[in-house]
Amino acid sequence: MKRIFALLTILAFIQISVLAQVKSPVYKDKNAPVETRIKDLVSKMNLEEKILQLNQYTAGQNTNINNIGEAMKSIPAGIGSLIYFGADPEYRNAIQKKAMESRLGIPILFGYDVIHGFRTVYPISLAQACSWDPALVTEAAAVAAKEANLSGVDWTFSPMIDVARDARWGRVSEGYGEDPYTNATFGVATVQGYQGKNLSDPYSIAACLKHYVGYGESEGGRDYHYSDISMQSLWETYLPPYEACVKAGAATLMSSFNDISGTPGSANPYTLTDVLKKQWKHDGFVVSDWDAVNQLIAQGVAADRKEAGLKAFMAGVEMDMTDNIYFQNLKQLIDEKKIPMAKIDDAVSRILRVKFRLGLFDQPYTTIVDESARYLQPESKAVAQKLAAESMVLLKNNSNTLPLTASVKQIALIGPMADNKANLLGSWAAHGNEKDVESIAEGLQKEFDSAAKITTAKGCDFDGNDEKGFAEAVSAAQASDVILVCLGEKREWSGENASRSTIALPAIQEKLVQELKKTGKPIVLILSNGRPLELVRLEPLADAMVEIWQPGVAGGSSLAGILSGRINPSGKLSITFPLTTGQIPTYYNMRQSARPYAGKYQDIPTEPLYWLGHGLSYTTFAYGDVKLSTASIKKTDKLTVEVEVSNTGKVAGTETVLWYINDPACTISRPVKELKYFEKKELAAGAKTTFKFEINPMRDLSYTDATGKRFLEAGDYFVMVNNQKVKFTVTE
Ligand code: GLC
Repeated sequence: MKRIFALLTILAFIQISVLAQVKSPVYKDKNAPVETRIKDLVSKMNLEEKILQLNQYTAGQNTNINNIGEAMKSIPAGIGSLIYFGADPEYRNAIQKKAMESRLGIPILFGYDVIHGFRTVYPISLAQACSWDPALVTEAAAVAAKEANLSGVDWTFSPMIDVARDARWGRVSEGYGEDPYTNATFGVATVQGYQGKNLSDPYSIAACLKHYVGYGESEGGRDYHYSDISMQSLWETYLPPYEACVKAGAATLMSSFNDISGTPGSANPYTLTDVLKKQWKHDGFVVSDWDAVNQLIAQGVAADRKEAGLKAFMAGVEMDMTDNIYFQNLKQLIDEKKIPMAKIDDAVSRILRVKFRLGLFDQPYTTIVDESARYLQPESKAVAQKLAAESMVLLKNNSNTLPLTASVKQIALIGPMADNKANLLGSWAAHGNEKDVESIAEGLQKEFDSAAKITTAKGCDFDGNDEKGFAEAVSAAQASDVILVCLGEKREWSGENASRSTIALPAIQEKLVQELKKTGKPIVLILSNGRPLELVRLEPLADAMVEIWQPGVAGGSSLAGILSGRINPSGKLSITFPLTTGQIPTYYNMRQSARPYAGKYQDIPTEPLYWLGHGLSYTTFAYGDVKLSTASIKKTDKLTVEVEVSNTGKVAGTETVLWYINDPACTISRPVKELKYFEKKELAAGAKTTFKFEINPMRDLSYTDATGKRFLEAGDYFVMVNNQKVKFTVTE
């Protein structure tokens, strides 16, 4: 009897242990809580597997089928992430399969720079902010996410939310302008578009806030350079967009290249751990920028690669982009007790958390759909049209030169941008293809069809000094009723490593306009550029000016719609246009000088050409008197401010009301005005509507000190809208 019992016990034990073996581990159970899955998986990983997760390499740089095998062989199956340059989901799935077949089957996270569209390319981010339409920006980001996801991308290195006030810096094109609130608002809108309601939803991709932090302050606009940022400026200007986007659930961040007052962004324990992880409780991860860990040596904070790896990892950079430093050094640093195993496990957990939340463990493969269903769908192109049109800014329109009326029968379309497609895509255009772009000439031809004859002449190149094309351009202009001069920048003059010593256009372009001016014909200047331009010599020559930025695939038709009047322009600048390069930095939310009546330049005006918020319409809007719900509130109350706006013109139009506040006397001095809210509404001709702003004192009136602590002081404040400035008081 005893023997039988013992036998049965042994059999039962074997059965349980076999079952345990056959039963899938907890981390593979999609119904288990993410934290439970993470814990279970980390407990099963060996050190090499953990360290591999902390590295990112590249893949897909050539999609020649003969090299795919080679490329996969050189990629460790357990690598944490790959920057995927291709757009072939099958290639990506083939690499993923290797990972899923590895010992623990941890999926690879495929990342890529989807900045303003994947194949349906939208306007550059700086232009998108000129639309003042966050909901539309969210739509565009959602399209970009879907096109990227269907191409094998799970993670985009976007949005770039670096406040930038020096237009000599090429990357000013990639962010949302000079203002913290604008970068925060459009950064959140973009994160929401990428990540959707849930990271594991179909087509959601993880966002990556960059470049954390203060990269836009690069000295002299020189990319990768030192950025001198006080703690006050850090909290007041550069961190707010990141705080807003982290609170909105952004999955990851990218640490920046710049040296932040002696402690580079990629080795900065204060920003990467104290602020991001401890204060903001971010539970995703930070990836370094490309080679940024290695660059700590050049920046003078690390003697060698090993020390660079130690500093970056201990500061709070969980994943090392492409320089292979973590892979080569972390084990030794752990053996030397310089990196605690707990920190390795925390870093690995953060990366796994994003992968679990994306659903990569449960759906590691990209769904394959026919290429014709992946890109440039009609609804995607409709968003591109709308966003391009809403991003364009009517800067000047003397004597209603625009829109072109039926009396215009001959149009001279002149300039290097007149028939150019590629440059309309801008920098960081992902898989954008110039063949998808509608040029200005094509857009105009379609719009004006037989209504007007369009004669195109390039006139000159973007730069150089070849004036041979002037004669043909002048001749076309002389025979025209209106000259449309399309000037601007090459796409490679913006973006990374594209700093310029001047924001003026090359002289040849200005000279072309001077020659055309001699014809006496009305001149409409159309500008396609990735930064504010120095227009001090061009502006007086133009009767009208339209800033189209780098508008993406739909640039031609959107501009044509504006020129014909089919579209009433509604864009307003998201960044100030200095009069000349010498005025840099000039931005709307500067602090007042000690002698506002003095301290001016002796040789040029001190006012910029256009402030943030500038933008005209084909109609006119009249603002009524600003009304306060009360003239005095307690700190815990709310104050509603409203203004009635009438469309006093003859055509429908869309107005964006920008609400600013000012605190004239504060423990820490405040900018002359701070944007706190904006709202955009369409008004039919003759219609009127009320715009309201509910002031929440702690949110809208408080200020931060150099530690990020917020304060709200009793006293007088001003609310400013259009050209009105109304006082109210806050009491204890
Ligand atoms: C680049 C850029 C960064 C980009 C990354 C990956 O150097 O600084 O914005 O996301 O490398 O391409």
